[in-house]
Amino acid sequence: NNLELLPIPLLEWYRENARVLPWRSDPTPYHVWISEIMLQQTRVAAVLDYYRRFLDELPTVAHLAAVEEDRLLKLWQGLGYYNRARNLQKAARQIMEDHDGAFPDTYEQIRCLTGVGDYTAGAIASIAFGIPVPAVDGNVLRVVARVTGDEGDILKGDTKARMGEALRAVMPVEAPGDFNQALMELGAMVCLPNGAPLCDRCPARDFCVARRTERIGELPVKTPK
Ligand code: ADE
Repeated sequence: NNLELLPIPLLEWYRENARVLPWRSDPTPYHVWISEIMLQQTRVAAVLDYYRRFLDELPTVAHLAAVEEDRLLKLWQGLGYYNRARNLQKAARQIMEDHDGAFPDTYEQIRCLTGVGDYTAGAIASIAFGIPVPAVDGNVLRVVARVTGDEGDILKGDTKARMGEALRAVMPVEAPGDFNQALMELGAMVCLPNGAPLCDRCPARDFCVARRTERIGELPVKTPK
């Protein structure tokens, strides 16, 4: 398929256009983990202040493992989905007990942390450790569906698995974290939902199947359950 055409122009676009975000300037496993959990149901602009306050008060896994629950929930107040905060603390305690406080450094071990699913494990493994695994969220599924012209329902597990495998096959081993964040960034800034993408600015505009076949409005396919 045409996905092999994507990495070079995408990485070049990302290096010129990436937003400066606090977790990008110092991507330790702890920083990437906290940012990805906060970003799960919340926009970047809303996360920024919470992220700074959280790390000021809880700068390490050990601090997070030890903090009083009341204090933790105060730091989370306004972000919503409070189980995310409780799961962060459970996972911090797992790291203290099972890994002597050192953040686990394989995809499988990261995936075992409470509250960490396939997407978040892929994001931490690739961004913080340089492990070449995909990180497939809704933005990334939309980009891949359009670039490849894939008409599979992106809410279905087999479609997600196929797109993840297609990404794994073209992942640049020298820059897995940048590649995954570039896909997220393209989905957030250019390849917008609701048939309103900014194709003129897209690094994939010359080979994007949805654009070439005038199916931007129809892709991705997302059948309500
Ligand atoms: N959304 C989720 N993870 C992100 C990241 N690392 N950068 C930008 N947006 C994101």
